Amino acid sequence: MSLTPIGEPRRKVTTATLRDLKLQHEPISCLTAYDYATSRLVDEAGIEMILVGDSLAQTMLGYENTLSVTMDEMLHHVKAVRRGVKNALLIADMPYGSYQVDPKDALLNATRFVKEGGAEVVKIEGGEKRADLIRHIIDAEIPVAAHIGLTPQSVNVMGGYKVQGKNLGAIEQLMRDATALDRAGVACLYLEGIPREVAAMITAEVSTPTIGIGAGPECDGQVLVFHDILNLTFGPPAKFVRRYGDLAAVITNAVQAFRADVRSHQYPSDQESYHLPKETKAGLDTVLDRKRAMRR
Ligand code: KIV
Repeated sequence: MSLTPIGEPRRKVTTATLRDLKLQHEPISCLTAYDYATSRLVDEAGIEMILVGDSLAQTMLGYENTLSVTMDEMLHHVKAVRRGVKNALLIADMPYGSYQVDPKDALLNATRFVKEGGAEVVKIEGGEKRADLIRHIIDAEIPVAAHIGLTPQSVNVMGGYKVQGKNLGAIEQLMRDATALDRAGVACLYLEGIPREVAAMITAEVSTPTIGIGAGPECDGQVLVFHDILNLTFGPPAKFVRRYGDLAAVITNAVQAFRADVRSHQYPSDQESYHLPKETKAGLDTVLDRKRAMRR
């Protein structure tokens, strides 16, 4: 399968599509989305993969990091996105604590994303140490995406959000992680915050598609956070973020214009108001005239 040119009717993207695209060297695009309206726009724009990332902890819920977002909060957003997405592959991020504690819980939580949320793939952070768990979930017919490199759920272990894989030992570990996850049968492999050269080596080594974020152009696909590309994050962007629009400015201008119109009685106009039917208005005028006459 090759990519549908922009503007043409699209076919449903599946996990098999991702592998075909890798084989054909067709770059894959992925964006995060967290609600009905934006996921619908992202889907209709032709993006192949939509990730309901646990980054929603920060972008949508205002938490400091991704650690506190719960299964129920994630599920609420996955359900909304499901209603907006037709063709893109829908991936749900398993939040911190939903898969690290007990494999049984992990499988139950993954199942909830599929049964209640309509997700087609679940995403798990971590390398070779997660390979058995990932096999366990795949055995239950749930495709799994893995995420290695800078894994935000390990922020306290990493000592901050730092680029990973910068020395030979760390590179070897990343290669072991990638090959173990590939052998486990992951549907794709997210590579975050690693040197371009390392991401290129991993991409050449594994058969699963790699989807990079801050991992250079040799990955099979690229993912960015919706709020990052549209300037909705209230802070300086990371080096790898490219801004494609300024929704902060669009929203601020629109809201300020609305307020100014209300304050100056410019909104609503007569055309923006409902009116009584002619006969009712005539009757009402008569009643009001009589009342006025009685008051005189
Ligand atoms: O939560 C998220 O948005 C992610 C992507 C950045 C890969 O994990």
